[in-house]
Amino acid sequence: MKEQLAEIRTQALAAVEAAGDSAALDALRVKYLGKKGELTAVLKQMGRLSPEERPVIGQLANEVRASLEQAIQQQSEKLERAALEARLKLEAVDVTIPGKAPVLGHKHPMYEALDEIKDIFVGMGFTVLDGPEIELAEYNFDKLNAEEGHPSRDWSDTFYFDTDSRVMLRSQTSPMQVRAMETMDLPIRIIAPGRVYRKDEVDATHSPMFHQVEGMVIDKGVTMADLKGTLNLVMEKLYGKGTVTRFRPHHFPFTEPSCEMDIQCHKCHGKGCPTCKGEGWIEVLGAGMIHPHVLEMAGIDPDVYSGWAFGMGLERMAMGRFKISDLRLIFENDVRFLEQF
Ligand code: PHE
Repeated sequence: MKEQLAEIRTQALAAVEAAGDSAALDALRVKYLGKKGELTAVLKQMGRLSPEERPVIGQLANEVRASLEQAIQQQSEKLERAALEARLKLEAVDVTIPGKAPVLGHKHPMYEALDEIKDIFVGMGFTVLDGPEIELAEYNFDKLNAEEGHPSRDWSDTFYFDTDSRVMLRSQTSPMQVRAMETMDLPIRIIAPGRVYRKDEVDATHSPMFHQVEGMVIDKGVTMADLKGTLNLVMEKLYGKGTVTRFRPHHFPFTEPSCEMDIQCHKCHGKGCPTCKGEGWIEVLGAGMIHPHVLEMAGIDPDVYSGWAFGMGLERMAMGRFKISDLRLIFENDVRFLEQF
């Protein structure tokens, strides 16, 4: 039996050392130490031994059991450590790998143009105002001298919210003239940039939503010369010294006299090209002296005060400033386009 026990010990220890996972170890525990295990089988035969042999074999059997249990325990710890190390290796983070730079967006060229425009006017003492895009027809039209029946109030041109045409998406930033007159102390120097809406089809030069910058000055003794001088200076600052402008007579219900201002085409310098549709000139804004009746409706005495106002298309300014040929590029937000500025 001594040999049997020694044999079991050698075999079992070798098997334990070779066990590759905890399932294999459990199987070995059962195989050698379990109720029907090999060691137990040997011990069951102890009855056949002589009284002298019994304690000797008993002690040996206990030693074998103890060394097996210890070996299994050690192997199990070794396997656990190996498994942990393998997992740590697998989940390791290499902090020395260079990071992925987050993709940043890009300031839209139109807002860059707007920032320049704001800077120029703020530098001349103007205040920048923000106004509602959902506007009362009273402010968009009535208080600007465009009474009931005026063609621009037509449903085919304007987005109304109600059936009696009182609430609308503003079609111009000019209602901000009235809001400023009603709320600010004189003299007033303001610009008011923002979105405006008209029922236009989309093409290379039109969109149902676009941006305008309104500007207005009211003080004593303000004349058309101030309007021209100020706007000429603004165009020179935006488009460079020597930028050529021209003023053409026009009509707006809320200014008298009214004009439109063109700048000489930045592409062809007046010769005529596709960008200026062969004209040599690009229309940039509408302007004029504020109609005395408009001042009066806002509670300002036209015999004491006078003022001028302008409204310019911001998309068009940006297209000129950055030499962009198609309005749709401004609205598509394609980063390949935006990143060029
Ligand atoms: N609101 C006018 C337009 O949208 C522009 C304008 C503004 C004209 C101020 C004169 C004075 O066409």
